[in-house]
Amino acid sequence: MDLRQLGSSGPRVSAIGLGAMGMSGMYGPADETESIATIHAAMDAGVTLIDTGDFYGMGHNELLIRDALRSSGRGRDEVQISVKFGALRDADGGWLGNDARPQAVKNFLAYSLGRLGTDHVDIYRPARLDPDVPIEETVGAIAEQIQAGHVRHIGLSEVGAETLRRAHAVHPIADLQIEYSLISRGIEAEILPTARELGIGITAYGVLSRGLISGHWRADRATAPGDFRGISPRFAAGNVETNLRLVEALRAVAEAKGATVAQTAIAWVLAQGESIVPLVGARRRERLSEALGALDLKLAADDLAAIEAAVPAGAAVGDRYIAAQMAHLDSEK
Ligand SMILES: NC(=O)c1ccc[n+]([C@@H]2O[C@H](COP(=O)([O-])OP(=O)(O)OC[C@H]3O[C@@H](n4cnc5c(N)ncnc54)[C@H](OP(=O)(O)O)[C@@H]3O)[C@@H](O)[C@H]2O)c1
Repeated sequence: MDLRQLGSSGPRVSAIGLGAMGMSGMYGPADETESIATIHAAMDAGVTLIDTGDFYGMGHNELLIRDALRSSGRGRDEVQISVKFGALRDADGGWLGNDARPQAVKNFLAYSLGRLGTDHVDIYRPARLDPDVPIEETVGAIAEQIQAGHVRHIGLSEVGAETLRRAHAVHPIADLQIEYSLISRGIEAEILPTARELGIGITAYGVLSRGLISGHWRADRATAPGDFRGISPRFAAGNVETNLRLVEALRAVAEAKGATVAQTAIAWVLAQGESIVPLVGARRRERLSEALGALDLKLAADDLAAIEAAVPAGAAVGDRYIAAQMAHLDSEK
């Protein structure tokens, strides 16, 4: 597996990371045995970066990763665990806002270390900017946890260029985790150039737009209660048909390259720069294997042009989150 350097101060990680969110209910029920087998298969294939959040399944995702690591027989240092914290939820799975106060950083981290069964997190990041807490205070608190040996690197998630600059002035930021795909190109105008200028890597999520541009989605696919895609504007009737027409255009380009749609979408993100590491949200071995095939798909300039002609920037319809969640995105302000 190729490695990529996450920013000038961050760790070297596998060129594709595994996002474990979908293994803890965010896309409807997941099979635990298959989830663990998928994490094992990822490690066997050379994936070193595993991304989670303490609020994915209210800790379930971290416990799953702990179990997968233990049963893999691998040493802790063979993987890098990236953890998001700060999202507040209720017992029904509702979203209550964010808490990134310094005392919350210490508290959330202590619980994560306990659930993960480890003495350190490799990259620790607030899931969203807490509007009530200056980013300098949150980053300063995580930097103290680096000094204490509980954290290796600091990351951010879905913040804008100005917040990146302020945070990076306090302590080097390894990576910004943010949505980036053929149909979510908002970071290209300002955020990506700023990250490059500062030497901050990108861990790109939603590279398949949560399955919408994977080539496997159908307009009539039912979603289980709690599946994010059941409320996502991009999957809504009236929008999904337009978005799937883009996918069919992409399929023609993919097939001409002897690749699948998902591989082509992931390879396009990989081709946007060495500092960008796509996180794929596979929760089954079959999907993981398909996604990792993107590493073998080399795209020349004319391939990239054909892909961008099939899926022009801004052609997709529907916001990437519902309005209430869009309001929490510093990156969209
Ligand atoms: N920082 C943030 O705000 C944020 C937000 C969201 C996610 N993330 C992180 O990013 C990770 C990935 O994000 P995502 O879930 O949005 O990723 P994604 O890769 O865009 O979508 C994953 C979904 O696509 C479907 N899929 C179809 N073919 C696939 C293939 N070959 N490989 C992988 N998935 C395929 C799967 O759905 P089915 O299993 O239903 O077929 C899967 O659950 C998450 O696990 C999480 O760690 C971060």
